[in-house]
Amino acid sequence: MSRPLQNKVALVTGGSRGLGAATARSLADAGADVAITYVASADKAAEVVKQLEDKGVQAAAFRSDQANTTLAPPLIDDVVARFGGLDVLVNNAAIGVESGKTIDDPSVDAAALDRMHATNYTGVIAIIRAAAKVMRDNGRIINIGSGLGSRAGRPGFADYAATKAGLTGYTKGAARDLARRGITVNMVQAGLMQTDMQAPSPEVLKLMVSGLAIQRVSDPAETAAVIAFLAGPAASYITGAVIDSNGGYTA
Ligand SMILES: NC(=O)c1ccc[n+]([C@@H]2O[C@H](COP(=O)([O-])OP(=O)(O)OC[C@H]3O[C@@H](n4cnc5c(N)ncnc54)[C@H](OP(=O)(O)O)[C@@H]3O)[C@@H](O)[C@H]2O)c1
Repeated sequence: MSRPLQNKVALVTGGSRGLGAATARSLADAGADVAITYVASADKAAEVVKQLEDKGVQAAAFRSDQANTTLAPPLIDDVVARFGGLDVLVNNAAIGVESGKTIDDPSVDAAALDRMHATNYTGVIAIIRAAAKVMRDNGRIINIGSGLGSRAGRPGFADYAATKAGLTGYTKGAARDLARRGITVNMVQAGLMQTDMQAPSPEVLKLMVSGLAIQRVSDPAETAAVIAFLAGPAASYITGAVIDSNGGYTA
């Protein structure tokens, strides 16, 4: 098997479940040593670490609450201390709260929305800033967005969509800032995956699928493969790009 990421160190935020866990496995299959973060699921994170080690790479899990920006620099320090450097950063961890509630709904929990902005946006930026200072030349930063960042599509997702659209702008600016060191920065806009974040009723799921060009939910491994490609040497001339892996939701 080709191992284009051998001797590379990757950090995948939110690697304990869902797309993050699938991405960690894809990067390990490509030969990278992989650090993951989590906030609550210590057991699931430990299980993913075991799966990665079984693939013959080094792996470790770090508990770090992404909503707290002061924890970003020590997280990056810990990863570098444990693995000796950093080559690939996948900003995957995010939450979706108050989904489906319109902004004028009196029951909307503003504090929950604020925590989502902190987790999905300011927390990600803090990690990118800390990582950019130490990332090795020719590194890769891949931010995970959503089709909702390009097209809200239905009511009740303004705040979630804004966190992802904001990251698109940061992706492009960071791509300009870091290109002189060969570091690329890209966004993958993921689509409908049946993870813990996305567990709608069968009726709502049917409605969501009907809005896609490819009328099915995706396996997280499909998007993890796109992320692994962007992390590899073959993607050296792609930066500042927003790549849709969402079944044509934005088509
Ligand atoms: N699922 C979809 O249909 C869909 C569609 C479009 C885009 N996306 C995007 O794809 C990415 C992955 O989503 P998913 O569906 O795989 O989510 P998920 O299954 O809910 O997993 C979320 C991951 O993020 C971690 N996390 C949550 N809050 C955190 C915090 N404050 N600090 C550190 N880690 C935290 C979780 O850790 P714990 O396990 O410790 O809680 C978990 O590992 C997200 O960026 C999401 O916005 C998902």
